[in-house]
Amino acid sequence: MPRYLTTPIYYVNDKPHIGHAYTTLAVDVLARWYRLAGEEVFFLTGTDEHGQKVERAAAAAGLPPQQFCDEVSQAFRDLTTTMGFSNDAFIRTTEPRHHAACQALWRRLEANGHIYLGHYEGWYAVRDEAFYAEDELTERDGVKYAPSGAPVAWVKEPSYFFRLSAWADKLLSLYESRPDFILPLGRRNEVLSFVKAGLQDLSISRTSFSWGVKVPDDPSHVMYVWLDALTNYLTAVGYPNDPTALWPAELHMVGKDILRFHAIYWPAFLMAADLPPPRRIFAHGWWTNEGQKISKSLGNVIDPVALVEEFGLDPVRYFLLREVPFGQDGDFSRRSLTLRLNAELADAFGNLANRTLSLLQRNSDAMLPGEVPPDSLWVEHVSGLAAKVAQALDVQQFHIALEHIFAAIRAANVHITEQAPWALKKTDPARGLAVLRGLHDALRVFATVLTPFMPTTMAAMLDQLGVPDDARTLAALATPLPAGLALPPPAPLFAKRELPA
Ligand code: MSP
Repeated sequence: MPRYLTTPIYYVNDKPHIGHAYTTLAVDVLARWYRLAGEEVFFLTGTDEHGQKVERAAAAAGLPPQQFCDEVSQAFRDLTTTMGFSNDAFIRTTEPRHHAACQALWRRLEANGHIYLGHYEGWYAVRDEAFYAEDELTERDGVKYAPSGAPVAWVKEPSYFFRLSAWADKLLSLYESRPDFILPLGRRNEVLSFVKAGLQDLSISRTSFSWGVKVPDDPSHVMYVWLDALTNYLTAVGYPNDPTALWPAELHMVGKDILRFHAIYWPAFLMAADLPPPRRIFAHGWWTNEGQKISKSLGNVIDPVALVEEFGLDPVRYFLLREVPFGQDGDFSRRSLTLRLNAELADAFGNLANRTLSLLQRNSDAMLPGEVPPDSLWVEHVSGLAAKVAQALDVQQFHIALEHIFAAIRAANVHITEQAPWALKKTDPARGLAVLRGLHDALRVFATVLTPFMPTTMAAMLDQLGVPDDARTLAALATPLPAGLALPPPAPLFAKRELPA
């Protein structure tokens, strides 16, 4: 069965920024890694287009909601190209198949006795599209705010409810029986204490606006946008017609701000509809920009398109997953991006490749020398590398995977300096060639395991290494390349940049 991996679907109230690119990038690297390992993947992303927040944004732009959604959704689709994402599908919640899936799920929940009609009265934050209890709020200048900083307003209207209160025990046993259902563990504990404190029934419909999926048989209600949005993960795999082919999802990647919806509401909805919960939900941290919270009002939103234009796509992809332990918050700075590009990509890795390949041109007539005897010290760093990377990526620890790779690159740099193959040409040419062959083998491993992180540059490096197309998989690393393989002239792949002040 293919590995089904998802990103959140993005609100179309505003154009994409670096935070959105980050969540999808993480899934893209996993998807590319598993494909490299020869596995089948279904990688889904898309846009979340209903609800009051989007309805208001459309009104502010002076456009009919559908037209507004079409435009902003296209910007998110374009981002997948800008960032080199390899998603297999792109879902929009305004598609008719999604309305049908939501209504089918609703009917199933209703038939199973989990929905009742009542009256909602309480606090709601349109920015978060979330309900809050009084004791979660703080007050400033007469305005009440949710913990996220979003202002809340009092809502009073007829509403359908989902009997969430009945699911606390079942959720707790789900978390207990599957310790890696929510990662990282710190976040899992937050969810656990929230559920242990008791759950209230959830309002799942609204009557005060109309931009949403209509409740079956009661069209004066539209569904709560989170019930609608979460259902996208089912719609995309054919629900209600073919629900079992890809379900359950292997991984929902989300930001920490939307963990509660994914780890509490979603498994409860699914279990109530007799469907299995996903296998894992991973909540990553948030980026700040040069130490400041990223926000439109502060005017410091990082535009991924401009960033990629300035630094190049692969350095940006690399930096985002290298800089911060995945799961924690992190700070974006142009200085750290430049430092890593210069020191790690251009110097440590790029120079290693360039020196090795240039020496092979000169000392080996641009041909790959024979197989290297596995006696050199750094072979231990390289041979088990793919397995170590796989282990780290299986638990979404991108920074650990990259740390393993760069430890091996550092070892290879120590090796080339110690062995000085440039000098061996005169003193011991056979050994000189063996050293270069060993370095070539190592570079092939590095470029292969880095392909999911930096697909374009690593494809160029594999070209320079002369690796045939059909040998660019993890499995192919076990087979040495034939001696005599022609090596094209090398060119540097990473350009250093001036450090910003
Ligand atoms: N539409 C909902 C998700 C529904 S999923 C069924 C939503 N959309 S969002 O556009 O507001 O955010 C989507 C993702 O972007 C979240 O995972 C969020 O954490 C991420 N980020 C938004 N700003 C971010 C940062 N500054 N840093 C890192 N990620 C951030 O929520």
